[in-house]
Amino acid sequence: MSDYLELRNQVHAYAVKMYQAGMVTGSAGNVSARVPDEADRYVITPTSISYQELKPEEVVVVDGEGDLVVGENAPSFEYPIHIAIYRARPDAGAIFHTHSVYSSILAVLRKPIPPIIEELVPYAGGEVAVAEYAQSGSDALAENAVKALFGKSAVLLANHGNLCLGKNLRKAFNLCALVERAARIYVEALKLGQVHLLPEEVVQAEKEMYEVVKDL
Ligand code: 13P
Repeated sequence: MSDYLELRNQVHAYAVKMYQAGMVTGSAGNVSARVPDEADRYVITPTSISYQELKPEEVVVVDGEGDLVVGENAPSFEYPIHIAIYRARPDAGAIFHTHSVYSSILAVLRKPIPPIIEELVPYAGGEVAVAEYAQSGSDALAENAVKALFGKSAVLLANHGNLCLGKNLRKAFNLCALVERAARIYVEALKLGQVHLLPEEVVQAEKEMYEVVKDL
């Protein structure tokens, strides 16, 4: 049986990158990747191990029920949201869930990030909505996130953080960085005056770009 070492190493490297980028503290947040060409196999970070200490072999592989296939550590307790999104979104090859500060501020305010900067819509797919609140790790949170993600690649989780998907780890990570940057711009701009949205026809054109860009 394969031990999926290469993909576990990649998930580990990106989890450390997420930590170093300040998107999470300690062991908060989680990263996963779909095992290509195998049904219902997902590589995911383990629960409750600080990213400062995490070793590649502690990253695990789970099946569609969240049960361990490879590895010894318990998977992230957020595995239901990861698995539900992979099942609903064949375009998702990787998922990041982060507790980035400005995304979390908007998640607490339950305020979506509107189309305010040029690069957001082509990569996120439109306004970044806030999924209805449900407790961390619950099936209800998974369901709410899938609903709010419809046709897009990023979502805010009420009172919690953000979540981004992508074709691969690089794209999902970059989108989380972009969403956090847009959240920061929005929060800071709101303090200074009126925020202007992109014109509707531009948003529509950029949504078409999203459909192309997400598969590149
Ligand atoms: P895990 O350590 O189980 O991944 O959970 C952290 C978290 O981000 C909860 O939202």
